[in-house]
Amino acid sequence: MSDQWATSGLDLHLDVSGPGVRAALERGLRNAVRDGRLAPGARLPSTRSLAADLGVARNTVADAYDQLVAEGWLVARRGSGTHVSARVPHPDTAPARVAAAPSPARFDLTPGSPDVSAFPRALWVRTLQQALVEAPADALGYSDPRGVPELRTALAGYLGRVRGVDVRPDRMIVCSGFSQALALTGGVLAAAGGETVGIESFSIEAHRAALEAAGLRARAVPVDASGADLDGLGPAAAALLTPAHQFPTGAVLSPDRRRRAVDWAAENDAVVIEDDYDGEFRYDRHPVGAMQALAPDRVVYIGTASKTLAPGIRLGWLAAPTHLVEPLVEAKRLGDTHTHVLDQLVLARLLERGDYDRHVRRQRAVYRRRRNMLVGELAAAAPEARVTGIAAGLHALVLLPPGRTELDVVAAARRRGLVVQGLGEYQTGAPEAVQAFPPALVVGYGRPPEHAFTGAVARLVAALVERPLRP
Ligand SMILES: Cc1ncc(COP(=O)(O)O)c(C=O)c1O
Repeated sequence: MSDQWATSGLDLHLDVSGPGVRAALERGLRNAVRDGRLAPGARLPSTRSLAADLGVARNTVADAYDQLVAEGWLVARRGSGTHVSARVPHPDTAPARVAAAPSPARFDLTPGSPDVSAFPRALWVRTLQQALVEAPADALGYSDPRGVPELRTALAGYLGRVRGVDVRPDRMIVCSGFSQALALTGGVLAAAGGETVGIESFSIEAHRAALEAAGLRARAVPVDASGADLDGLGPAAAALLTPAHQFPTGAVLSPDRRRRAVDWAAENDAVVIEDDYDGEFRYDRHPVGAMQALAPDRVVYIGTASKTLAPGIRLGWLAAPTHLVEPLVEAKRLGDTHTHVLDQLVLARLLERGDYDRHVRRQRAVYRRRRNMLVGELAAAAPEARVTGIAAGLHALVLLPPGRTELDVVAAARRRGLVVQGLGEYQTGAPEAVQAFPPALVVGYGRPPEHAFTGAVARLVAALVERPLRP
């Protein structure tokens, strides 16, 4: 069972491959509504016939339908089956079907990116020029797969000072962003016989996919206001966690859970993969240090310049436990020999001279002001929405006012030219991951350029206070 044509009275291509059949089915149906293959009002096949077409259990289809009814994509009418909601739920389909197209999305509050217009271009160019002039010819040859020594030394010092990471330069590997570091780690664990990896039940789909592509099976780890809870995970090769600022719920992993996570790793001969993607941005208190320091030989620490500088420069770093250094270095060598040397030399200099710290400090002040403004505007104009997950990072979780669904708020925002994302989009694909969480938006306040931020928040507020249309 994988890619299937469902034939139950409806020509519908659904991709239900992979381990999370129910989640895959939900995704497939949402996509079909979103891109217009399932029109508003269209009747869906009965659970029995769709289950037979797809070769899955009838309950799986019934549960998926129930979930999509709860989210507002579908409506169930007693006696006449399940239909696509008459209220066109997703803005992406609107231009094709309605005369008055929504305004183009001029504002974007989706998470995942900092304000890239704040990238220190002049500083980067100047530093690159100096690095090129001063580097010996040898520096442009093949070099150590772990990265240039200057950068690994500068990073080990910086991470020790700012994030409390306990690492020597010879255990650091410079990578093409967090993503490559994660894929290498997954591959090494699978090659060593690892079978399973715990993944937070709300997280980034691409990260789960990368670990599965490496040969590991994902098992969901529930998250709550104290972060990820590994108590029910059982034996696994690793657990991928975002301790400083859970992505996307925004929780900070509690001290007790941190301790238990490293104990779990020791008991199961496993590792915690610590995704410290936005650890530098902590606003109200001193930064919570990386959990790696609790057990450097049980934690693969991974950081990135994607939030501090820009995702496009693809620079990240990994601090490896002793027993994984060799296989990880070998995997990096086989993968791409090593990361771009000139970029590494630039970053090394920025770190050595304090320019990186200054840039992060400047941006932290910008994002703190944005966060305060977001919280203040919502409290004043949309008091029924609650904001959480604001202690750190570049995104917050906005819990919706009673009676609103993620879908209708996302659509209301889109009509105003604003793109936002619902929390449901980050639900991990594994069936056991389905976890109750109140409807919410994941608001990335880091992304807009300065001039667009106020307008984006005004549109968000307007979308949150709009009275929903009833199907
Ligand atoms: C949770 C999380 N981890 C890691 C990253 C960074 O990935 P990369 O360094 O590959 O750009 C992001 C970026 O959006 C993220 O949201």
